[in-house]
Amino acid sequence: MKSIQKVGEGVFGEVFSAEGNGERAVLKIIPVDGSTMINSSPQKPIREVIGEYLISQTLKESNLAGFCNVKAASLCNGIYPKSLKTAWDKYAETKESENDRPWEVLAKDQLYIVLQMEHCGQDLDSQQLNATEAVYLLKQIAKNLAAAESACEFEHRDLHSGNVLVSRDAETGQLEPTIIDFTLSRVKPKNEDAIYADLEYDHEIFEGEGDPQFDVYRDMQNALNRDWSIYQPKTSVYWIAFLAGWMGRNIAAGKSKTSRKLLDLRKTLRRYKNANEIVDRLDIVLK
Ligand SMILES: Nc1ncnc2c1ncn2[C@@H]1O[C@H](COP(=O)(O)OP(=O)(O)OP(=O)(O)O)[C@@H](O)[C@H]1O
Ligand SMILES: [Mg+2]
Repeated sequence: MKSIQKVGEGVFGEVFSAEGNGERAVLKIIPVDGSTMINSSPQKPIREVIGEYLISQTLKESNLAGFCNVKAASLCNGIYPKSLKTAWDKYAETKESENDRPWEVLAKDQLYIVLQMEHCGQDLDSQQLNATEAVYLLKQIAKNLAAAESACEFEHRDLHSGNVLVSRDAETGQLEPTIIDFTLSRVKPKNEDAIYADLEYDHEIFEGEGDPQFDVYRDMQNALNRDWSIYQPKTSVYWIAFLAGWMGRNIAAGKSKTSRKLLDLRKTLRRYKNANEIVDRLDIVLK
């Protein structure tokens, strides 16, 4: 493994990319099962973290496009290696980190789950999209969610702008979205019980203010009546509506006609039942 870089972070995970055998791999490293707090949060149990891998496997079995493939999940323990520490500090210098330096907080025998994924591009937050690109990406995300809804009752449940990555297709030059981070997602594998995260144990997630993203967690809680096990594709409707608003606010030339259309969609899409219904609507409204 060489060219190790930190490429992102979340409350629970540190995300690095590395090159090996001519391929660029991404490793998401998540401390699990310990009693030490990390980034002001308790560590997750292994069972919850492994859900992200199992959900990705179910999406893969259904041959769905537009979702990150988590190739492997490993359980490791021990200290942070020097190469990751150097990459971590470099990221903190250039991008600023909200996280603790893991090796200063965590014990020497800390357990970690390492998820190995393909590199899926840069997140929406770091893009300057024009109106055509924003419309294409929104339609494509809705289509991918609709296909996953039909195939395995998939609901992502956390589709903020940091969880949509964008890359350029090497052959066509077209921007393509990839959905990552299935930490809160729900899916129904064939002949098995649904895999989901019970958010009722996480009160803080419903208390956020100041960004439309935080309203979505409360909207989902109402739609699900606090039962996170059930299939309720309205959650995807709320996230697609949120992304329409995000695109409307963030595309270049913010006052354009498309921007206004997208901002209107943020409200009007909410009456639909699922992503499949929205796909048809977007094709009519955003020609
Ligand atoms: N496969 C990938 N390819 C490229 N970048 C990635 C990949 N996975 C994650 N990242 C980067 O790392 C960031 C954090 O990853 P991720 O969302 O999976 O972590 P998280 O801890 O679950 O985050 P949170 O819970 O805060 O949403 C992403 O926003 C993205 O910038
Ligand atoms: Mg995330």
